[in-house]
Amino acid sequence: MDDLKGRVAVVTGGGSGIGRGIALALGAEGMIVAVADIQRASAEAVAAEIESRGGRGLGIGVDVTSVVSLAAATKEILARADGVNLLCANAGVLARIGPLANHTIEDWEYTLSVNVMGVVKTVAAFLPALRQSAPDAHIVTTASLGGLLSDVRAPIGAYIASKYACVGYSEMLRAELEGEGIGVSVLCPGVVASNLMGTSAENRPDAFGEQAAPQFAPAAGAGGGSAPSPPAKAMAAEDVGPIVIRAIRANRFHVLTHPRARPLVEARFEAMLEDFEFAASR
Ligand SMILES: NC(=O)c1ccc[n+]([C@@H]2O[C@H](COP(=O)([O-])OP(=O)(O)OC[C@H]3O[C@@H](n4cnc5c(N)ncnc54)[C@H](O)[C@@H]3O)[C@@H](O)[C@H]2O)c1
Repeated sequence: MDDLKGRVAVVTGGGSGIGRGIALALGAEGMIVAVADIQRASAEAVAAEIESRGGRGLGIGVDVTSVVSLAAATKEILARADGVNLLCANAGVLARIGPLANHTIEDWEYTLSVNVMGVVKTVAAFLPALRQSAPDAHIVTTASLGGLLSDVRAPIGAYIASKYACVGYSEMLRAELEGEGIGVSVLCPGVVASNLMGTSAENRPDAFGEQAAPQFAPAAGAGGGSAPSPPAKAMAAEDVGPIVIRAIRANRFHVLTHPRARPLVEARFEAMLEDFEFAASR
């Protein structure tokens, strides 16, 4: 999909961070942007920001873990805009920073309910409208660089597992929708400045218990300790939007914001290939 002007985009998790950055960039391209978030006030604020920059934004309240809420949001968007061309299934949570041994079952359930089933339910809700817009239709899911590799220094096991699932789901979706003229991309950002830890705690349903304080792995040779340490230098969320737009226009699958992470991905596949060699050496 190349011509974005006048077309309709939906961005879940659009009220903050990466979603807000994508929504603002799409608004600047002349798209009508439905900014959808469980925090409706944030969604409305970002929609107003788009309007203040001369674009068109709609603030929508939605909980991506609820099929009922998604159906209502879809109906509201289709009542206020003419179809849907671009879906950015971006809402996500980080429920636990700490070793797997400390992850609770509720941490897992909260993580998977938003990062995996939230994406699946969001796509299911908007796919009929996207099909009507094909071939001017595209889906961007938000996984993470943590959907392509893991690093024990960032102890976010449930999050990593959820993002690997998102990448696998998106690969299948791309292959299955290609024949219908609907493009699919998976956004895999490295560290981006956002409110992820704060909103994950705020939005966490009571049924999943309280969010625990972050517990970072000790740096190699640092002699232990679990005090939070600042993450690597973060990219500005506003810088992610233009990268996503470029990838949509070129219909690229992996949308990569941190190309310098390439050696880490190479190391992962090298290790996998070595295991293939080992298996073949029987
Ligand atoms: N920040 C990073 O370093 C980073 C890196 C890789 C991937 N990501 C992914 O980017 C996406 C956006 O996160 P962010 O970092 O911008 O964080 P953020 O907290 O700034 O934005 C996430 C938004 O999603 C919304 N949200 C959460 N649960 C929701 C639900 N059930 N229904 C609807 N909206 C919901 C939140 O209210 C929030 O506005 C997530 O999928 C996250 O996993 C973030």
